[in-house]
Amino acid sequence: MLIPLFLSLIPFISSQTCPDIQASSCEEKQNMSRTLRTIARIINPPELPEGDGARVRRVVGTNQLKNLDPFLMMDHFFVSKPAGFPDHPHRGFETVTYMITGSCKHEDFKGYAGEIGPGAVQWMTAGKGIMHAEMPGTDSMEGLQLWVNLSREYKMCEPNYQDAGESEILKVEGDGVRATIIAGTCLGQTARTVTRTPTYYFVVELERGKTLNQEIPDGWNGYVYVLNGTVSIGNSNLSRFQAGILTQNGELRIESSEGAKFALLAGRPIGEPVVQYGPFVMNTREEIEETFNDFRSYRNGFEAGRGWVSKIRDG
Ligand SMILES: *[C@@H]1O[C@H](CO)[C@@H](O)[C@H](O)[C@H]1NC(C)=O
Ligand SMILES: *[C@@H]1O[C@H](CO)[C@@H](O)[C@H](O)[C@H]1NC(C)=O
Ligand SMILES: *[C@@H]1O[C@H](CO)[C@@H](O)[C@H](O)[C@H]1NC(C)=O
Ligand SMILES: *[C@@H]1O[C@H](CO)[C@@H](O)[C@H](O)[C@H]1NC(C)=O
Repeated sequence: MLIPLFLSLIPFISSQTCPDIQASSCEEKQNMSRTLRTIARIINPPELPEGDGARVRRVVGTNQLKNLDPFLMMDHFFVSKPAGFPDHPHRGFETVTYMITGSCKHEDFKGYAGEIGPGAVQWMTAGKGIMHAEMPGTDSMEGLQLWVNLSREYKMCEPNYQDAGESEILKVEGDGVRATIIAGTCLGQTARTVTRTPTYYFVVELERGKTLNQEIPDGWNGYVYVLNGTVSIGNSNLSRFQAGILTQNGELRIESSEGAKFALLAGRPIGEPVVQYGPFVMNTREEIEETFNDFRSYRNGFEAGRGWVSKIRDG
């Protein structure tokens, strides 16, 4: 990833301490209304080059949909060796990787390393700074990577990982519905994932003719991204690789006449100003410049970056 050079010297900023965090159980639930959400807009994610030779379908993060507070980006990635995402930094948000097929090796600049296989999830809070590499562990890999924004109070947190193998992730079944609950509450069950920004993230398989009724707190933004088949929400249909942005209030009713697999994302908007520059997302232009300076001078979270080169970057 290209790293532009900001060279001005900016005084040291002390890192904030992070307030206590809570699992994203739904304290806003009592405010649920009986209205049904509909599709406000359909997105046709473009296919783009990313990383080193990788291809992604960018659902969130293009001119069609720059962001959907608190979501900054979502890529549906398809990567075959030797392509991948070699050494690059992040600050100010969380990356959530969900593997669909194949496995992904990762390694960060503090020696945290591993491999996530099909159905596994890595929820990484970059906080004040991470440098890492993400490369295929199998000949090819397919998955979703979501970027969730952090509010000002968490942007300079210590980095943190919540990794879960396929067998550790909560799965629930309803009538013709199978849901993998990466975060939040679905069909009466709540994942243990701690989300600093209250978030729901499910991957759902719906049998033909079946319906999922899902409560989402009023005011939260959300969207559905179809991985297979077609779904109907209100009067709109979404087909494979289309995303539908939901209206902001009410319950969601998703039906599928032919059967479908889709990702459902919803989150409480942060609603503060945002400045994003490549892999860094902060609140002001000054904070972005400070971040480039910290990154280039190996400080305020990027200390371990000095001289660091991942072992996995060349496959
Ligand atoms: C909760 O419901 C009340 C009463 O309907 C409404 O005034 C308030 O704006 C709602 N709050 C949110 C966060 O939606
Ligand atoms: C998509 O759905 C069809 C029909 O249900 C199924 O045969 C196929 O395996 C699915 N493909 C993927 C990638 O899930
Ligand atoms: C959506 O799909 C249903 C069932 O396949 C079909 O009857 C309906 O006409 C479609 N609606 C739109 C707006 O395309
Ligand atoms: C991202 O979070 C920051 C606060 O840390 C906020 O200012 C901004 O509005 C958020 N941006 C988006 C696009 O969600």
